Amino acid sequence: MNLLSVKNLNKSYVTKKLMGKNEERKVLSNVQFELGENKILGIVGESGCGKSTLAKVLTRLEDFQSGEITLCGQNLREIPQKNLTHLVQMVFQDPYQSLNPRKMAWEIIADPIMVVEKTPRPQAKIQALAMMAKVGLLPELSERYPHQFSGGQRQRIGIARALMLKPKILILDEPVSALDVSIQAQVLNLLLDLQKEFGLSMIFISHDLSVVKHISDETLVLYFGEVVEHGPSENVFKNPQHAYTKTLLESAP
Ligand SMILES: Nc1ncnc2c1ncn2[C@@H]1O[C@H](COP(=O)(O)OP(=O)(O)OP(=O)(O)O)[C@@H](O)[C@H]1O
Ligand SMILES: [Mg+2]
Repeated sequence: MNLLSVKNLNKSYVTKKLMGKNEERKVLSNVQFELGENKILGIVGESGCGKSTLAKVLTRLEDFQSGEITLCGQNLREIPQKNLTHLVQMVFQDPYQSLNPRKMAWEIIADPIMVVEKTPRPQAKIQALAMMAKVGLLPELSERYPHQFSGGQRQRIGIARALMLKPKILILDEPVSALDVSIQAQVLNLLLDLQKEFGLSMIFISHDLSVVKHISDETLVLYFGEVVEHGPSENVFKNPQHAYTKTLLESAP
């Protein structure tokens, strides 16, 4: 069974203009795809094509106008918030902005279980330390604050936090774009290890084709909010069908 199924998804942003006029801007058009268990789907496309909007719709941070999204056989709109947090979690691009600067590393990581599952602090700390080990962070760093970590370490904190509720799907929005190239490879390999260990499915968003090629089973190319290419990554990279994908591949280093 597919974990996630997206059918004919349409999303516009409506902004209020002066004198009560609304301006509608279509961002996603008839987007359609499925995600199976233990699979990594890469989503690529240039800035502004709607990648983050899609991530926000899938995590219900944004609503959509039409289409159907099914998660584990349930209509996304009808899933209670608590259950949703156990199904899908998101890792954001900027590990500097997405971590609370006034909380220690272990508190940031433990936050989801303290809030959603009401796990008492001492137990939550034990679980957070165990998760730190899994993402390659030494437990002795647990009482440090975000500014005392490197970018790569911060992204490991973000990943650890996203895994605390044992989600089935991890959505990663440009998770390595802010990192040095050498660090990017380490984080990608970590994600592949975690995917196996936790039996996760992932949606991996990036504007960088080489990153997506390395990590994803399937690749989907978004172009001005439309899916112009989708298939096993090997096929997409070896034998692109759409002119835009060809341009992307040619311009990649
Ligand atoms: N909250 C919003 N209100 C109105 N328009 C928005 C909003 N968020 C995004 N947009 C617009 O929707 C379009 C898609 O934005 P989105 O952030 O999804 O693109 P993206 O593919 O993630 O780009 P990037 O690679 O730069 O992150 C853009 O034109 C953007 O300006
Ligand atoms: Mg984005």
